[in-house]
Amino acid sequence: MLLLVMAAGTIVLLNSCADFSGGTVIAPPQIEGATYVGDKRCAECHEKITRAFPSSAHARLRLTNAQIAGQQGCESCHGPGSKHVAVGGPKFIINPGKQPDACFKCHISANAEFHLPQHHPVLEGKMTCVQCHDPHGLDIMKPAGGLAMARVNESCSNCHREQTKPHVFEHPALREGCTVCHTPHGSVNAKMLTIRDSNLCLRCHAQVQKPGGRPGTLFIGNIDHTTFVHYGTCWTAGCHSAVHGSNVQPYYFY
Ligand code: HEC
Ligand code: HEC
Ligand code: HEC
Ligand code: HEC
Ligand code: HEC
Ligand code: HEC
Ligand code: HEC
Repeated sequence: MLLLVMAAGTIVLLNSCADFSGGTVIAPPQIEGATYVGDKRCAECHEKITRAFPSSAHARLRLTNAQIAGQQGCESCHGPGSKHVAVGGPKFIINPGKQPDACFKCHISANAEFHLPQHHPVLEGKMTCVQCHDPHGLDIMKPAGGLAMARVNESCSNCHREQTKPHVFEHPALREGCTVCHTPHGSVNAKMLTIRDSNLCLRCHAQVQKPGGRPGTLFIGNIDHTTFVHYGTCWTAGCHSAVHGSNVQPYYFY
């Protein structure tokens, strides 16, 4: 659902692939006493970023009849720039790399996710949005300053080597990205899992009843799991504890 704080702003997406879901509001951050100057002024001193920006997710946002120019472009995240331009130095401008509040002005649901019991410590100031999102470049789902070729797990591998390093027995689930099993911002579940019980695994490993087998028997991967599933989840029951892959055991027991 899209909530419009500025009643005058009608949103038009020049590129229709951006999708307005997840509680996005249009409310740029404020800087006392400053007014909006527009992206052209920023280009005078920040040419490289201004040149990269048109391909970014946020550059696709356009507001018609916007009363405040800063509802789009650089100043939608950095705040009105007149005082900053006047001094021509790193003052009177918001840097959301240090102040994620600037992002939360619009991304209310992301803010809520970081308040869930299990979460990445962004609000605690231990990490920032830009360690996983590039605000200016082509692919917002890769870390700022990351490699040109973004892989699904690239931002995660910067900090979680143990899970992302190559294994002799790889679990193909990881090829679809860490977010198959983990919510990246926060979750009510331990270890930020998307699903807290064995259904996490059963989405891909359908339980089948063997043809001609006893009714009520559960087969997963051709092995009778009928009693196993009562011991706990697939990974805590003392079985597949090395879900990210193993160097010694093809069923990821350890
Ligand atoms: C007259 C030159 C000039 C103009 C015009 C200008 N800036 Fe800057 N800006 C600077 C300088 C110099 C710095 C400090 C060096 C750096 O970080 O590049 C800076 C730093 C910044 C920073 C980093 C601040 C921090 O705390 O780390 C941001 C963000 C920024 N500018 C955004 C903008 C935006 C948005 C615009 C257009 C509204 C703009 N600038 C226009 C000169 C300018
Ligand atoms: C989606 C929000 C967003 C928009 C829109 C945006 N920025 Fe930024 N900007 C950021 C964030 C976040 C950082 C911190 C990046 C970091 O720490 O690596 C940043 C950092 C900067 C910096 C200082 C650090 C650096 O990389 O030199 C400058 C200068 C800057 N932005 C200019 C601009 C200009 C010019 C535009 C428009 C062409 C713009 N930004 C549009 C979010 C945004
Ligand atoms: C002025 C409002 C505004 C601000 C400030 C803002 N965003 Fe956005 N952002 C949007 C809108 C609108 C969309 C597109 C609609 C949607 O997907 O919710 C969007 C989309 C996104 C997406 C998803 C893009 C996609 O392809 O699905 C990410 C990631 C994102 N923003 C991150 C950030 C980060 C990080 C910051 C702070 C550096 C930030 N945003 C600041 C309005 C904003
Ligand atoms: C640990 C890495 C990480 C951090 C830190 C992070 N994000 Fe994300 N974010 C992701 C990933 C991965 C996705 C894609 C989720 C998916 O595809 O299921 C995403 C999706 C999004 C989206 C689009 C989907 C949605 O939830 O609406 C927005 C907006 C967003 N992030 C904003 C932010 C903001 C704002 C911050 C900082 C306050 C931030 N993110 C910090 C990894 C991160
Ligand atoms: C900038 C570093 C950084 C990046 C990038 C990062 N993480 Fe994290 N991650 C952390 C930190 C710090 C913690 C908190 C560890 C703690 O509290 O002990 C954490 C915790 C976690 C946890 C919970 C661990 C536990 O024991 O409860 C999971 C799961 C996780 N991250 C997955 C991911 C995924 C998936 C991605 C990519 C979308 C990612 N992380 C990207 C730094 C990062
Ligand atoms: C098939 C599902 C699945 C995928 C895909 C997955 N994880 Fe996990 N992850 C889990 C489960 C289940 C746990 C909890 C393990 C436990 O409690 O012993 C976990 C735990 C973690 C932890 C906490 C430390 C630990 O090992 O217990 C981190 C960090 C983590 N995962 C990061 C990642 C990263 C990074 C990726 C992507 C490279 C990823 N995970 C992909 C299922 C998955
Ligand atoms: C996104 C889909 C997906 C998810 C989710 C997933 N897996 Fe897998 N897993 C696979 C694929 C694909 C294979 C390769 C073998 C196959 O095709 O069955 C595999 C192989 C395995 C194997 C090796 C045995 C075999 O049949 O080759 C085990 C054990 C396993 N997974 C356990 C788990 C556990 C435990 C979880 C939950 C934490 C889980 N998987 C979640 C896709 C997934």
